[in-house]
Amino acid sequence: MSKNLVNDLKIPRKQDFLMQKGGKDISLYALQNDKGMQVLITNYGGRIVSILTPDKNGKWDDIVLGFLTAKEYIEKDNYCYGALIGPFANRIANASFDLNGKHYALEANNGTNHLHGGQKGFHKVVWDVVSHDDKHIELSYLLPHMSSGYPGNIRVNVTYTLHENHELEIAYNATTDATTIINLTSHPYFNLDGEGDPTVLNHVLKINAKNFTPMTSENVPDGEISPVEGTPFDFREFKKVGDEIETENDQLRYGLGYDHNFVINRGNAKEDELVMAASIYSPVSGRTLDVLTTEPAVQFYTGNTLDGVCLGKKGKPNVRRSGFCLETQHFPDSPHHDHFPSVVLQPGHSFKSVTIYRFGSVHA
Ligand code: BGC
Repeated sequence: MSKNLVNDLKIPRKQDFLMQKGGKDISLYALQNDKGMQVLITNYGGRIVSILTPDKNGKWDDIVLGFLTAKEYIEKDNYCYGALIGPFANRIANASFDLNGKHYALEANNGTNHLHGGQKGFHKVVWDVVSHDDKHIELSYLLPHMSSGYPGNIRVNVTYTLHENHELEIAYNATTDATTIINLTSHPYFNLDGEGDPTVLNHVLKINAKNFTPMTSENVPDGEISPVEGTPFDFREFKKVGDEIETENDQLRYGLGYDHNFVINRGNAKEDELVMAASIYSPVSGRTLDVLTTEPAVQFYTGNTLDGVCLGKKGKPNVRRSGFCLETQHFPDSPHHDHFPSVVLQPGHSFKSVTIYRFGSVHA
């Protein structure tokens, strides 16, 4: 299908991803649906490199922040661009946890906290490609027992499937041979006006959450589950992302903007039932994104620490708040809070979760 593409669009090429890391081959894989939507994924970090979708005028653009080469992902990325995150997404306070009477020490890579699995996290490893065709790719990775401080040989499989209705489905499965903890997510930064656009503050967001988990000044949950009502965290009705982001508020100060865990209203939904977590659109491009998930929570992050040093695919700097993430997950620091949904994975059981990014466009 010939596309009406934005002028400065640069589509990542497979030849710029062919390299090795730790003796394993890296490449770039394309998914495509019959409507022309295209998703590019690399097995380095299981990253979503590019998503092409049309705007309200039928103009196609890449709406995911990232790079044109595998080398840049390896050498320049401090922000987990597009990556699969694990074995424990988000933060674990004091970079340690206790499980079954044993103490486990993890890498402190975020002040005194452990963040996104540390330097050996799933975003930094080369995943095995189990199968690939133009509608799906299945990736697999085995994290050896204790290799980054987590107990158990943890096997994780992630399948990305692109559906005809412009849904990108991500299905996660994890098993272990010793009791461990698991929290998996995907970390694309979206800009619905196209990567390279300088802001997402004009986007309009709704989050299906009555509550969020406030954090300490060290950016870990303080253990409370607090109502969003009457706070800048109230996105129960559509609200512009930028409307209250500069409000004088301790939580916004600690996060340097939005960087918080929202508790999804799951009602009576069963554990494996998809529930709407969030919907967001840009009044400029008319592009829409719905996020559905089986997970209990979603981290809304407004790219507050993007510093403009990295240039994106169009050669434009990835500046502060030029991308947003909606990371479906279990609550941060769950191992230290017994009243949060459990993140413990036992041998003989599978951790399973599904998240769907549904893309669309409307005349705003
Ligand atoms: C975290 C941010 C962090 C970013 C990049 C997000 O999931 O919540 O605090 O800066 O990932 O690692």
